[in-house]
Amino acid sequence: MPGGGDPHFLVGLETSDDAGVFQISEHQALVQTADFITPIVDDPYDFGQIAAANALSDVYAMGANPLTALNLVGFPIEAMDREVLSYIIKGGWDKARDAEVTIVGGHSVKDPEIKYGLAVTGTVLPSKIIRNSTARAGDKLILTKPLGTGILATALKNEKLPDELLSIITASMKRLNRKAAQVMITQQAHACTDITGYGLLGHLLEMMNSSGTTATLFAEKVPLFPELQYFVEKKQIPGGLKDNLKFIEPHLEAPPRGDDWLVNVFCDPQTSGGLLFTVSAESAGACLQELHQSGETDSSIIGEIVEKAHKPILLE
Ligand code: CO
Ligand code: CO
Ligand code: CO
Repeated sequence: MPGGGDPHFLVGLETSDDAGVFQISEHQALVQTADFITPIVDDPYDFGQIAAANALSDVYAMGANPLTALNLVGFPIEAMDREVLSYIIKGGWDKARDAEVTIVGGHSVKDPEIKYGLAVTGTVLPSKIIRNSTARAGDKLILTKPLGTGILATALKNEKLPDELLSIITASMKRLNRKAAQVMITQQAHACTDITGYGLLGHLLEMMNSSGTTATLFAEKVPLFPELQYFVEKKQIPGGLKDNLKFIEPHLEAPPRGDDWLVNVFCDPQTSGGLLFTVSAESAGACLQELHQSGETDSSIIGEIVEKAHKPILLE
């Protein structure tokens, strides 16, 4: 039992899940999470939307419905134009409105580096919580957004990213995981998490370790943003990627085949990445079709769950 024995504390920190869940009545549990980030794009309005979508995602990843949020702000108020801050806040506000979430307050501090995010509260029926620890052997594994925002954002910082690619990743990072979550709830997903700082392999490893299962990953089926091989070979590697790679290597079995760039991409830290969830093999086809119809057109079946093997992730 999480939380040192409090029976109301349904999901805690021990399974590395996306949010804490606390039961408040027979039919209702609170889902709480907080996330803030430093600017990943230059446009403050886009950044505000991305940071809000990124923070809301952890509530969607639990199968829950976000209701309210608090702004979390760090801003160099003496060194920078206040207008920048107002665009960031407006971005968060508009994204929260898209999600039908009310921002009820918040807190800001003076900070040499801009930071923005949300503390989010949602609700869920206790029996409908989708944990990351409940994948089952035989399930299919679905990912709803392409990978590569960390590598491409690094290229952006080094002024090497074409505008066209910037608009592609910005649109993806701004997009809420709301519709994807609705589909996975309808299709009775067994386990879910969202892809953020630990990359695909890091979050998949957490899911496999807490579920006591192994994942076979179909490398060619994983959706990717364009030009990633080029940018990996040009060494546009975020610091977090190297840490993730080092952490994941002992847990991964990959055939030697000279496409190391791809393993790098699978370890790329994502901002506002997609949902990664498992559904029964019988539901997987219908689920994918529904995702594509709902606008999540990059969604793909990227692997399957098998009984626990000698390694938690087998790359195919
Ligand atoms: Co998460
Ligand atoms: Co998070
Ligand atoms: Co979850």
